[in-house]
Amino acid sequence: MSKVHEDQRITFVTGKGGVGKSTLAAAIALKLSMESESPALLVELGDSSYFEVLFEAGGIGYRPRSMRGNLDFALWSPENCLQDYVLHFLKIEKVVDLFFKNPVMKALINVAPGLAEVTLLGKATSGIRGVGSDLPYRHIVIDSPSTGHALALLRAPKALSEVFRIGPMGRESRRIHEVLIDSSKCSYVIVALPQELPRVETLELFHQIREEFGVVPKVYCNKILSPPLSESELEGILQTQTKGGISHFAKYLLDQLKREREHIDIMKAEVGWVGEVPLVLDSEPWKLIETLGEYVEPH
Ligand SMILES: Nc1ncnc2c1ncn2[C@@H]1O[C@H](COP(=O)(O)OP(=O)(O)OP(=O)(O)O)[C@@H](O)[C@H]1O
Ligand SMILES: [Mg+2]
Repeated sequence: MSKVHEDQRITFVTGKGGVGKSTLAAAIALKLSMESESPALLVELGDSSYFEVLFEAGGIGYRPRSMRGNLDFALWSPENCLQDYVLHFLKIEKVVDLFFKNPVMKALINVAPGLAEVTLLGKATSGIRGVGSDLPYRHIVIDSPSTGHALALLRAPKALSEVFRIGPMGRESRRIHEVLIDSSKCSYVIVALPQELPRVETLELFHQIREEFGVVPKVYCNKILSPPLSESELEGILQTQTKGGISHFAKYLLDQLKREREHIDIMKAEVGWVGEVPLVLDSEPWKLIETLGEYVEPH
């Protein structure tokens, strides 16, 4: 049995492709790591790291890498997670290596339905369950896949526990699912944009997570236009400058702001609270993440 981290919390950040999931996940993780100096881990899932490229920082891999103060980054693949888990019990690295270097084994992890997902979530929830190697963080923020894949990931433990009703596989999967439906342990963040398709996808996902996991996700609307002029100033330009590019641009901005506001209001009417995150231009990556941290409320 490993150390159980009773007060550990996991935040899954998902949403449609390209909406700003990774950026907001980093903003949330940075903010959490600064609040009361609690160590936080930002996790990317898969075989390659977006942040390694973004920050031109080598060494983001399975073992956490310190990035800033109390914030570490890691990249988890199903293969690494399973390897770590097996090694923890067998304790003989050579045997484990042999096992995992076998191409049949590699293929099995990736094709057995739900196994890759359960392995990743098994690792994510291992600190709370006290299983495997120690995961000594107060907060774990998971830069999760986009909508459909995120649902497949989150549904896998329950599905597997129904296939394997008895035995260790079923037991582990059931315990992972129990963590996922515990709102004191897991939070779900959905990132949206003030546009029709991301809004529709966000609302669908919101209801699916709430119904299937019993936890109310937090919705953030990202990249909201925030021009340096107020709406009444733009109206003023429209009234005084009847011709020319400036008035066209003022009209375009006003229409766009109105459309964005309609999308945000529809989301608010359906989910209650929606965090509003502005589009921030001209910012280097860390600065953008720090700035966006001012707009997120991780708790
Ligand atoms: N509020 C914002 N203001 C300005 N730029 C932003 C903002 N949020 C995200 N971005 C930029 O938008 C782009 C996409 O963001 P990001 O990579 O975080 O999206 P993603 O949802 O993780 O994408 P993917 O689905 O490909 O993983 C990046 O260039 C990021 O810097
Ligand atoms: Mg991303």
